[in-house]
Amino acid sequence: MKIFAIADLHLSFGIPGKEMDVFGKQWEGWTDKIFNHWNEQIDSEDLVLLPGDISWAMHPSDVMADFDWINDLPGTKVIIRGNHDYWFSSAKKAREALPPSIHLVHNDVFHWNGVDIAGTRLWDSPAFSFEQYIHFVKNPRAKVSLEERESKEHMEKIYERELHRLELSLKQLKSDTRLVMTHYPPVSADLQPSLASQLFEKYHVQAVVFGHLHSLKKGVSMFGELNGIEYILTSCDYLDFCPKKILDL
Ligand SMILES: [Fe+2]
Ligand SMILES: [Fe+2]
Repeated sequence: MKIFAIADLHLSFGIPGKEMDVFGKQWEGWTDKIFNHWNEQIDSEDLVLLPGDISWAMHPSDVMADFDWINDLPGTKVIIRGNHDYWFSSAKKAREALPPSIHLVHNDVFHWNGVDIAGTRLWDSPAFSFEQYIHFVKNPRAKVSLEERESKEHMEKIYERELHRLELSLKQLKSDTRLVMTHYPPVSADLQPSLASQLFEKYHVQAVVFGHLHSLKKGVSMFGELNGIEYILTSCDYLDFCPKKILDL
Protein backbone atom coordinates (compact mmCIF):
# COMPACT_ATOMS: atom_id res chain seq x y z
CA MET A 1 0.00 0.00 0.00
CA LYS A 2 1.27 3.42 -0.91
CA ILE A 3 0.20 7.00 -0.29
CA PHE A 4 0.40 9.57 -3.09
CA ALA A 5 -0.50 13.26 -3.30
CA ILE A 6 -1.44 15.66 -6.09
CA ALA A 7 -3.13 19.05 -5.54
CA ASP A 8 -4.98 21.50 -7.76
CA LEU A 9 -6.65 19.20 -10.27
CA HIS A 10 -8.86 22.17 -11.28
CA LEU A 11 -11.34 19.89 -13.05
CA SER A 12 -14.30 21.21 -15.06
CA PHE A 13 -16.11 18.19 -16.53
CA GLY A 14 -19.47 19.62 -15.37
CA ILE A 15 -18.90 23.11 -16.79
CA PRO A 16 -17.04 22.93 -20.10
CA GLY A 17 -15.08 25.98 -21.21
CA LYS A 18 -12.77 26.18 -18.19
CA GLU A 19 -9.68 24.81 -19.91
CA MET A 20 -6.55 25.37 -17.88
CA ASP A 21 -4.24 26.26 -20.79
CA VAL A 22 -5.20 29.93 -20.26
CA PHE A 23 -2.65 29.59 -17.43
CA GLY A 24 0.11 28.30 -19.73
CA LYS A 25 0.97 25.68 -22.34
CA GLN A 26 1.96 23.17 -19.65
CA TRP A 27 -1.74 22.74 -18.81
CA GLU A 28 -2.75 21.53 -22.31
CA GLY A 29 -4.50 18.17 -21.93
CA TRP A 30 -3.95 18.27 -18.17
CA THR A 31 -6.69 15.80 -17.27
CA ASP A 32 -5.32 13.22 -19.73
CA LYS A 33 -1.85 13.64 -18.25
CA ILE A 34 -3.17 13.16 -14.70
CA PHE A 35 -5.30 10.19 -15.79
CA ASN A 36 -2.36 8.44 -17.44
CA HIS A 37 0.19 9.07 -14.67
CA TRP A 38 -2.36 8.06 -12.02
CA ASN A 39 -3.14 4.76 -13.74
CA GLU A 40 0.56 4.02 -14.31
CA GLN A 41 1.44 4.18 -10.60
CA ILE A 42 -1.63 3.81 -8.40
CA ASP A 43 -3.50 0.63 -7.47
CA SER A 44 -6.88 0.10 -5.85
CA GLU A 45 -5.30 -0.49 -2.41
CA ASP A 46 -3.42 2.86 -2.45
CA LEU A 47 -4.44 6.21 -0.98
CA VAL A 48 -4.28 9.52 -2.84
CA LEU A 49 -4.32 12.89 -1.06
CA LEU A 50 -5.90 15.74 -3.06
CA PRO A 51 -5.17 18.96 -1.11
CA GLY A 52 -7.68 21.37 -2.60
CA ASP A 53 -8.66 23.25 -5.78
CA ILE A 54 -10.44 20.13 -6.96
CA SER A 55 -12.94 21.77 -9.31
CA TRP A 56 -13.97 25.00 -11.05
CA ALA A 57 -17.63 24.14 -10.35
CA MET A 58 -19.53 26.96 -8.65
CA HIS A 59 -22.50 24.86 -7.51
CA PRO A 60 -22.80 21.42 -5.90
CA SER A 61 -24.70 20.02 -8.92
CA ASP A 62 -21.86 21.00 -11.28
CA VAL A 63 -19.14 19.23 -9.32
CA MET A 64 -20.61 15.72 -9.62
CA ALA A 65 -19.02 15.03 -13.02
CA ASP A 66 -15.61 15.84 -11.51
CA PHE A 67 -16.25 13.59 -8.50
CA ASP A 68 -17.29 10.78 -10.84
CA TRP A 69 -14.05 11.18 -12.82
CA ILE A 70 -11.99 10.99 -9.60
CA ASN A 71 -14.08 8.10 -8.27
CA ASP A 72 -13.35 6.02 -11.38
CA LEU A 73 -9.59 6.34 -10.82
CA PRO A 74 -7.97 3.60 -8.72
CA GLY A 75 -7.46 4.02 -4.97
CA THR A 76 -9.08 5.71 -2.01
CA LYS A 77 -8.98 9.50 -2.21
CA VAL A 78 -9.03 12.19 0.48
CA ILE A 79 -9.84 15.81 -0.32
CA ILE A 80 -9.78 19.15 1.46
CA ARG A 81 -11.24 22.39 0.22
CA GLY A 82 -9.05 24.87 -1.69
CA ASN A 83 -9.66 28.55 -2.33
CA HIS A 84 -11.25 27.80 -5.73
CA ASP A 85 -13.66 25.12 -4.49
CA TYR A 86 -16.72 27.37 -4.61
CA TRP A 87 -18.98 24.32 -5.03
CA PHE A 88 -18.33 23.59 -1.34
CA SER A 89 -21.21 24.89 0.79
CA SER A 90 -20.89 22.71 3.89
CA ALA A 91 -19.05 19.58 4.97
CA LYS A 92 -22.37 17.80 5.49
CA LYS A 93 -23.59 18.51 1.94
CA ALA A 94 -20.21 17.66 0.44
CA ARG A 95 -20.11 14.31 2.26
CA GLU A 96 -23.62 13.44 1.13
CA ALA A 97 -22.58 14.06 -2.48
CA LEU A 98 -19.21 12.31 -2.45
CA PRO A 99 -18.93 8.95 -4.27
CA PRO A 100 -17.71 6.01 -2.15
CA SER A 101 -13.97 6.23 -2.87
CA ILE A 102 -13.66 9.96 -1.98
CA HIS A 103 -13.51 11.26 1.60
CA LEU A 104 -13.44 14.81 2.94
CA VAL A 105 -11.27 16.09 5.79
CA HIS A 106 -12.87 19.15 7.37
CA ASN A 107 -12.25 19.93 11.06
CA ASP A 108 -11.56 16.23 11.58
CA VAL A 109 -9.19 13.39 10.68
CA PHE A 110 -9.35 10.60 8.11
CA HIS A 111 -8.13 7.20 9.41
CA TRP A 112 -6.73 4.79 6.83
CA ASN A 113 -4.84 1.55 7.52
CA GLY A 114 -3.02 2.88 10.58
CA VAL A 115 -2.33 6.29 9.03
CA ASP A 116 -4.12 9.43 10.22
CA ILE A 117 -4.62 12.39 7.91
CA ALA A 118 -5.51 15.82 9.29
CA GLY A 119 -5.98 18.99 7.30
CA THR A 120 -7.37 22.40 6.59
CA ARG A 121 -7.30 24.89 3.74
CA LEU A 122 -5.11 27.52 5.49
CA TRP A 123 -4.64 30.89 3.72
CA ASP A 124 -1.90 33.29 2.59
CA SER A 125 0.31 33.85 5.61
CA PRO A 126 0.96 37.45 6.63
CA ALA A 127 4.53 36.30 7.50
CA PHE A 128 5.81 35.19 4.07
CA SER A 129 5.03 35.27 0.35
CA PHE A 130 6.04 33.38 -2.80
CA GLU A 131 6.09 36.20 -5.33
CA GLN A 132 9.78 35.78 -6.15
CA TYR A 133 9.28 32.09 -7.06
CA ILE A 134 6.39 32.56 -9.49
CA HIS A 135 6.03 33.56 -13.14
CA PHE A 136 2.99 35.75 -12.64
CA VAL A 137 -0.01 34.74 -14.77
CA LYS A 138 -3.10 36.88 -14.26
CA ASN A 139 -6.01 34.72 -13.15
CA PRO A 140 -9.01 35.81 -15.24
CA ARG A 141 -11.29 33.79 -12.96
CA ALA A 142 -10.23 35.25 -9.59
CA LYS A 143 -13.27 36.06 -7.43
CA VAL A 144 -11.53 37.96 -4.64
CA SER A 145 -10.58 41.52 -5.56
CA LEU A 146 -6.94 42.53 -5.42
CA GLU A 147 -7.75 45.06 -2.69
CA GLU A 148 -9.36 42.37 -0.55
CA ARG A 149 -6.60 39.91 -1.25
CA GLU A 150 -3.96 42.40 -0.21
CA SER A 151 -5.68 43.66 2.93
CA LYS A 152 -3.35 42.59 5.71
CA GLU A 153 -6.08 42.70 8.31
CA HIS A 154 -8.36 40.48 6.22
CA MET A 155 -5.55 38.03 5.58
CA GLU A 156 -4.63 37.82 9.27
CA LYS A 157 -8.23 37.20 10.27
CA ILE A 158 -8.71 34.29 7.86
CA TYR A 159 -5.27 32.88 8.67
CA GLU A 160 -6.07 32.88 12.40
CA ARG A 161 -9.39 31.13 11.81
CA GLU A 162 -7.65 28.52 9.68
CA LEU A 163 -5.01 27.91 12.37
CA HIS A 164 -7.85 27.25 14.80
CA ARG A 165 -9.40 24.77 12.35
CA LEU A 166 -6.01 23.15 11.85
CA GLU A 167 -5.54 22.55 15.57
CA LEU A 168 -9.08 21.21 15.85
CA SER A 169 -8.11 18.61 13.28
CA LEU A 170 -4.60 17.92 14.67
CA LYS A 171 -6.03 17.24 18.14
CA GLN A 172 -7.83 14.21 16.70
CA LEU A 173 -4.65 12.51 15.45
CA LYS A 174 -4.13 9.16 17.17
CA SER A 175 -1.97 6.88 15.00
CA ASP A 176 1.83 6.92 15.04
CA THR A 177 1.85 7.79 11.32
CA ARG A 178 0.51 11.33 10.96
CA LEU A 179 0.13 13.25 7.72
CA VAL A 180 -1.45 16.65 7.10
CA MET A 181 -2.97 18.22 4.00
CA THR A 182 -3.19 21.99 3.64
CA HIS A 183 -4.09 23.82 0.45
CA TYR A 184 -1.88 26.88 1.06
CA PRO A 185 1.80 26.28 1.87
CA PRO A 186 2.17 26.29 5.67
CA VAL A 187 5.82 27.41 5.69
CA SER A 188 7.96 29.69 3.55
CA ALA A 189 9.87 28.22 0.60
CA ASP A 190 13.14 28.57 2.57
CA LEU A 191 11.56 26.81 5.58
CA GLN A 192 11.25 29.62 8.10
CA PRO A 193 9.23 28.32 11.07
CA SER A 194 5.59 29.47 11.14
CA LEU A 195 2.62 29.31 13.50
CA ALA A 196 1.44 26.31 11.46
CA SER A 197 4.81 24.52 11.65
CA GLN A 198 4.78 24.96 15.45
CA LEU A 199 1.43 23.17 15.55
CA PHE A 200 2.69 20.31 13.35
CA GLU A 201 5.62 19.84 15.74
CA LYS A 202 3.35 19.96 18.80
CA TYR A 203 1.20 17.16 17.35
CA HIS A 204 4.12 15.04 16.04
CA VAL A 205 3.26 15.17 12.34
CA GLN A 206 5.66 13.46 9.89
CA ALA A 207 4.80 15.13 6.60
CA VAL A 208 2.62 17.94 5.24
CA VAL A 209 1.43 18.05 1.62
CA PHE A 210 0.04 21.18 0.01
CA GLY A 211 -0.50 22.93 -3.33
CA HIS A 212 -1.92 26.29 -4.44
CA LEU A 213 1.33 27.58 -5.98
CA HIS A 214 1.32 27.51 -9.79
CA SER A 215 3.65 28.62 -12.61
CA LEU A 216 6.76 28.27 -10.46
CA LYS A 217 10.17 29.18 -11.82
CA LYS A 218 12.19 26.10 -12.75
CA GLY A 219 15.29 24.99 -10.90
CA VAL A 220 14.63 26.90 -7.67
CA SER A 221 14.89 24.90 -4.47
CA MET A 222 11.70 25.10 -2.37
CA PHE A 223 10.57 23.44 0.87
CA GLY A 224 12.03 20.21 2.30
CA GLU A 225 12.58 19.13 5.92
CA LEU A 226 12.16 21.41 8.92
CA ASN A 227 12.61 20.05 12.47
CA GLY A 228 11.92 16.48 11.36
CA ILE A 229 8.81 17.26 9.30
CA GLU A 230 8.78 16.95 5.50
CA TYR A 231 7.03 19.80 3.63
CA ILE A 232 6.00 18.66 0.15
CA LEU A 233 4.61 20.88 -2.61
CA THR A 234 2.24 18.86 -4.80
CA SER A 235 0.53 21.36 -7.16
CA CYS A 236 -0.10 19.35 -10.29
CA ASP A 237 1.79 21.64 -12.70
CA TYR A 238 4.77 21.61 -10.29
CA LEU A 239 4.67 17.76 -10.39
CA ASP A 240 4.26 17.69 -14.19
CA PHE A 241 0.80 16.22 -13.53
CA CYS A 242 2.22 13.04 -11.95
CA PRO A 243 1.02 12.07 -8.43
CA LYS A 244 3.93 12.10 -5.97
CA LYS A 245 4.61 9.11 -3.72
CA ILE A 246 4.62 10.22 -0.07
CA LEU A 247 4.73 6.91 1.83
CA ASP A 248 5.29 3.21 1.08
CA LEU A 249 3.72 1.15 3.85
FE1 LIG B 1 -4.83 25.99 -7.70
FE1 LIG C 1 -5.41 27.56 -4.71
